Amino acid sequence: MTQAYDLSTLPADLHPEALPAHIAVIMDGNGRWATERGLPRIAGHRQGAKTIKNLVRCCKDWGIPVLTVYAFSTENWRRPRSEVTFLMRLFDRLLRRELTEMQRHGVRLRFLGDLSPLPESLQTLMQDAMAVTRHNPGVQFNVAVNYGGRQELVEATRYIAQQVACGALTPDQINEEALTHALCTHPLPDPDLLIRTSGEQRLSNFLPWQLAYTELYFTDLLWPDFDRAAFHQALQWYQNRQRRFGGLAPAPLAQSV
Ligand code: IPE
Ligand code: IPE
Ligand code: MG
Repeated sequence: MTQAYDLSTLPADLHPEALPAHIAVIMDGNGRWATERGLPRIAGHRQGAKTIKNLVRCCKDWGIPVLTVYAFSTENWRRPRSEVTFLMRLFDRLLRRELTEMQRHGVRLRFLGDLSPLPESLQTLMQDAMAVTRHNPGVQFNVAVNYGGRQELVEATRYIAQQVACGALTPDQINEEALTHALCTHPLPDPDLLIRTSGEQRLSNFLPWQLAYTELYFTDLLWPDFDRAAFHQALQWYQNRQRRFGGLAPAPLAQSV
């Protein structure tokens, strides 16, 4: 997409007070991006990685505090072994290559999901990256890897059952707060905005609890093509939503500040 204007700082038509505090992204369409160009699917994943890097940078420049991206679902193991292996290697390579830069920008990195089936060296890299960035004050960048919303809810339920079994919690103390505490996104706020690229309009098992009142934005752009101008458009759309949370209509976000 060509940019007719400077997007290095927050575009003038966006209201800094009404930006989403947390954006979740289903990065979809890497394979189609590559296929359209006669390239192998992995070329799309490689290009998609560049888009993520630019988006984290953009969140820093524009003042978005929390970004959560869906990188690998619990269902993505169904893909050909060669693609899964490539993705694991890509995560490994990216983490080694980008960690210093993320540190320099004060990014706090978290991996959400069950990391235990991942290659051991990758698990170690991820744990180390979470540990070294844990006090960073900048963008909180969460990467969902081997994440599945249903599995997350099952794990949370099991944890709560254990709390009850050992007497730390009584059944009537089980409430929304207790469940929220048991999720892997704790203590992050729920996403205000979800972006899904590639024209698909489904959640694919991403954050089902946390997205209960999130504004859902779908674009036909394929993930490798999602640039700052596209992000700008998504935020413009968001700022024109009326978020009612079951109450009566307030002004659109951008006018309510
Ligand atoms: C999203 O792109 C990346 C991952 C799921 C890892 P896809 O690989 O799903 O791309 P399409 O949907 O096949 O085009
Ligand atoms: C969702 O994309 C998962 C990620 C982006 C990591 P998929 O491409 O796996 O989703 P479906 O299969 O089209 O629902
Ligand atoms: Mg897909």
